[in-house]
Amino acid sequence: MNSFPAAWLDLREPADVAARAPELVKWLSEWSGRYEHVTVVDLGAGTGSCLRAIAPHMGSRQSWRLIDRSGVLLDEAVKRLSKWAHQRSLSARVEQNVWRCIGEISNYSVVFEEQDLATGPVDSGSVVDLVTVSAVLDLVSKEWCTNLARWCSEKGAALYTCLNYDGQFHFAPSHPDDSLVRSVVNTHQRTDKGMGPALGSSAIEVLAEALSAAKYQFVIAPSPWLLGSDSSALQTALVRDWSDLVFRQGGMYAARVSRWRNFRMAAIKARQSHLSVGHVDLWARPKV
Ligand SMILES: C[S@@+](CC[C@H](N)C(=O)[O-])C[C@H]1O[C@@H](n2cnc3c(N)ncnc32)[C@H](O)[C@@H]1O
Repeated sequence: MNSFPAAWLDLREPADVAARAPELVKWLSEWSGRYEHVTVVDLGAGTGSCLRAIAPHMGSRQSWRLIDRSGVLLDEAVKRLSKWAHQRSLSARVEQNVWRCIGEISNYSVVFEEQDLATGPVDSGSVVDLVTVSAVLDLVSKEWCTNLARWCSEKGAALYTCLNYDGQFHFAPSHPDDSLVRSVVNTHQRTDKGMGPALGSSAIEVLAEALSAAKYQFVIAPSPWLLGSDSSALQTALVRDWSDLVFRQGGMYAARVSRWRNFRMAAIKARQSHLSVGHVDLWARPKV
């Protein structure tokens, strides 16, 4: 079963676009200026939202490999990329399993690889200039982060990882049981999602250590979702998912979380709910 339905990734994409730390995208953009052609690998690519967010900020000639264990999401990626290209008056087509998109100055090619990244990236021997990992790191283990840093270093590749949950979310208005829900969510974050015992909110710290050992220089910046009354669909989905997690703990908290959910849903409906969800982004490259 796919635990990241395309509908969920669609729902979060506008919030992700607004949240990515602009200063890191600027670093990425400046770095890409030195390449005539940038080769990118996106790990856990989903429907390709990271490509849509950052490709316009990089040099015009780009080759991407979108890797995900879900073939369903990669099929959806082709549809969303074609729509995205159309909105930019770029001409897109699929030729021998390569999605190509050409405009006056843009020239992108994308291949889609259905692959289980259970222990980290698997080397295919090809050139990689940039590795991207968007909204995935909190699912992975310490070993996975170490393998990622080692692989980037072997390839001499830069790394951009964004939207890594930092363990914090805050609602306004607040409710006495916000901390109960947050603690259950953060405990769940650390369960194994198929890539080893998950690091949850400590992933970035662990990755930073592995990158230092690999002699990388890096910058970390906050990229919170700041969800106001116009983001009621995303807030509703989060409140539903988080309260379901607490319900799954058994009867112990059922009455409290039921009251919490009713309070939260009423505030969203009244357009009075504001929610910030903490994330951090990281940009890294080999020390020169
Ligand atoms: C939260 S989504 C992020 C998707 C996309 N990067 C984005 O920013 O929208 C996490 C992604 O990781 C993928 N994933 C989870 N476990 C994986 C694994 N073991 N191997 C490859 N991909 C995996 C999921 O299929 C999903 O697409």
